[in-house]
Amino acid sequence: TVIRRQDYRPPDWLVPDIALDFDLDPARTIVRTLLSVTRNGDHDRPLRLDGDGIVPLAVRVDGRELTQEEWHLEAGALIIALPDAAHQVETLVELAPEGNSKLMGLYASGGLLCTQCEAEGFRRITFFPDRPDVLSRYSVRLEADKARFPVLLANGDPIEQGDLPDGRHWARWNDPFPKPCYLFALVAGDLACNTDRFVTISGREVALGIWVKESDVPRTAHAMEALKNSMAWDERIYGREYDLDVFNIVAVADFNFGAMENKGLNIFNSRYILADPETATDIDYDGVEGVVAHEYFHNWSGNRVTCRDWFQLSLKEGFTVFRDQNFSADMGSHAVKRIEDVRILRAGQFQEDSGPLAHPVRPESYMEISNFYTSTIYNKGAELIRMMALMMGPERFRAGTDLYFDRHDGEAATCEDFVLAMEEGGAIDLTQFRRWYEQAGTPHVRALISHDPVSQSVELTLEQSVPPTPGQSDKQVMAIPLRTALFDSATGTHGGDELLLLTQAKQSFTFTGFPNAPVLSINRGFSAPVIVETNRSQADLAFLSAHDDDPFARYEAMQQLMVNVLVGRIAGQAVDDQAVIDAVRNTITDTALDPAFVAETIRLPSEAYLGDQMRLVDPDAIHAARDALQQKIGAELEPLWRDIHAKTKANAFALSPSAKGGRKLRNAALHYLVASGATDGPAIAFAQFDAADNMTERQAALGTLANGTSAEREAALDIFYNRYRDDALTLDKWFQTQAFALHPDTVELVAQLSEHKDFTLANPNRVRSLYGAFAGNQWAFHHASGKGYRLLADCIIALDRLNPQTAAKLVPPLGRWKRFEEGRAALMRAELQRILAQPGLSKDVTEQAGKSLE
Ligand code: ARG
Ligand code: ZN
Repeated sequence: TVIRRQDYRPPDWLVPDIALDFDLDPARTIVRTLLSVTRNGDHDRPLRLDGDGIVPLAVRVDGRELTQEEWHLEAGALIIALPDAAHQVETLVELAPEGNSKLMGLYASGGLLCTQCEAEGFRRITFFPDRPDVLSRYSVRLEADKARFPVLLANGDPIEQGDLPDGRHWARWNDPFPKPCYLFALVAGDLACNTDRFVTISGREVALGIWVKESDVPRTAHAMEALKNSMAWDERIYGREYDLDVFNIVAVADFNFGAMENKGLNIFNSRYILADPETATDIDYDGVEGVVAHEYFHNWSGNRVTCRDWFQLSLKEGFTVFRDQNFSADMGSHAVKRIEDVRILRAGQFQEDSGPLAHPVRPESYMEISNFYTSTIYNKGAELIRMMALMMGPERFRAGTDLYFDRHDGEAATCEDFVLAMEEGGAIDLTQFRRWYEQAGTPHVRALISHDPVSQSVELTLEQSVPPTPGQSDKQVMAIPLRTALFDSATGTHGGDELLLLTQAKQSFTFTGFPNAPVLSINRGFSAPVIVETNRSQADLAFLSAHDDDPFARYEAMQQLMVNVLVGRIAGQAVDDQAVIDAVRNTITDTALDPAFVAETIRLPSEAYLGDQMRLVDPDAIHAARDALQQKIGAELEPLWRDIHAKTKANAFALSPSAKGGRKLRNAALHYLVASGATDGPAIAFAQFDAADNMTERQAALGTLANGTSAEREAALDIFYNRYRDDALTLDKWFQTQAFALHPDTVELVAQLSEHKDFTLANPNRVRSLYGAFAGNQWAFHHASGKGYRLLADCIIALDRLNPQTAAKLVPPLGRWKRFEEGRAALMRAELQRILAQPGLSKDVTEQAGKSLE
């Protein structure tokens, strides 16, 4: 069954108050729920309480137990006819958290009991109108064995606790802020706490707690720092203050995604909380900081103002990603953060937007909402907010967000409400801009300049088109903000950066005062999530790669320079590599540049990105061309790589931006040095692997070795395994590095690793480390034999029986068959068909695989 945005209807019944009483036990948990329900509007429809896999032991209305004839179940939901406008409804259900392998609802993880309710997990805990526009005040009582579960946490503020006979104890929590049930959470277990405090701008003292297993407490310092910085940042940048007396975070080992913003009780995948130099890379540290901020920021963009229905998901996710991106930029480097975010957008969202699962930022329909926690909702959604902020400027954007928060505090809002608040608060007309919410597909913009020496003028002609996507064959013209500058190639400067707003299918802009033809710098800062095609020469791109003062545009010029050469090589043309080698040399010898920026810029575009530039992806040709260019850059600049690698060796580990930048550049240099084919390359990599005092250098060296076939490869993998076999998050890196390796036998190695005693389908991090990384390894996954496809499909089929949500996330790589030659395409389709033919397939995988075949 398909749910449509147009079918939205307000809830028939509201639930202003709910009291929950949990008798917790992994094998048999009893949940007693008391709802105060009120009829919403004038109708005679019964009360419908969603349920999934639960059966009521008893149902009472206003204190009287109902007979079996007075209620019934319909598609899992509990239906009760109620005579009056207000009633007290009580239900009793029994659950087995330890048997819950879907990790939705109440489940067990590493001796803990914890919950995940977004999007529709609360109905697996108790009967309730499980939709985000029903907001209730929660009062929660937890009871459990005190020795096994000494810590009992829920949303809001702790009220009271006490001991009971038979070694049991209880605790009561109240959340004064009405919230939808997807924000409900509880945790019970043997946890230790890193405690701290934050005083808000108005002087409220907040007790902060990060709860982990005892031995992990030393690894929580970075997360705590990030939390306090986030709280201060949201006050300073958005005027948003925290609103409860406590803020708790719990880390769990088994989690379907990154983290969850439950009111006052965030629950995290432990990989986004735990970090120390021995086990976490700089990327992991940044991930912790970004996700802690993301979940904290949801307290306003998500919790205080929530979503009316799940079609509005980007209202909270896109906006919150935009907020966490800017926070991370402020904590580190704006230039590098923007480059990283665009790379993520292009790798995930552009692929999604050009394939069978393309959907608008505000979708029109879905079968399973879990399938819509996508890069389009999150990352493209963030780009939409970024474009609005850019067009409005910081003051007007802030006026818009102030109005949005004030107007909708305590409400369930829509994307349209957000846009209206921007228009009114920020004095801007977004009529045409709204199409960004409605139309799927990445717009293409063709930008051509022509110069007239007589009038000394330049005409910039912009032409846009949005490709057709499933269900949307005709596209309307978009409003596309493009930051642009015209460079004087003689001086290397420009007369100012202008924001051009492209609002027509084809539009020309004229600039005067140019005796010579300038060089075009466009979509600076990646001002719009579009694909720009230009007629710039390799010389123009080389010029910009050396002179553009917008760091993103400078990076982009270098990437385009490389793409042009690589695409030529892939097509078997004789190409001139020299411009690339010169540009890399200029960049690594420019001492004025931030090392982190240098490292980003000199990196070759990924094999997957190169595939995206071709009509049909040829994985083998792409791999060969990229490998050859990498070898050549490595060999021609070998002394420089050696020099950088030696120079960037720090005496001791530090987490400062400059220390992180040094490591990033050091690893890039090592990579090129090994790629050069120098005979001592593997030995140098192994020495770095062995001597490193941090995971950033150790894992990079391992990754570099894993691509080759040296003796050092096997030695390093063995040492790594033995050193970290008891630390799940670090062992994930061992699986991931091998699955991602550009090694001729990766498919067989992944097949073997799937049989390894440390591999398990029960842990989503482990599954993603092996199969997620493998599916992102274009050369290996798209092996012409189809054995990579079969391996992934086998995993999807097996995992679907345990955890459909995580299984469904692995389907999209198989859906890209239209982008491959018919041999591979047929093999991919065959695997999708085999998946769809499985009896008892989940709704999650059925939707993803079905759409992928269309
Ligand atoms: N709201 C969470 C976050 O982005 C993610 C929840 C994901 N839920 C899901 N069913 N995939 O912070
Ligand atoms: Zn989020």
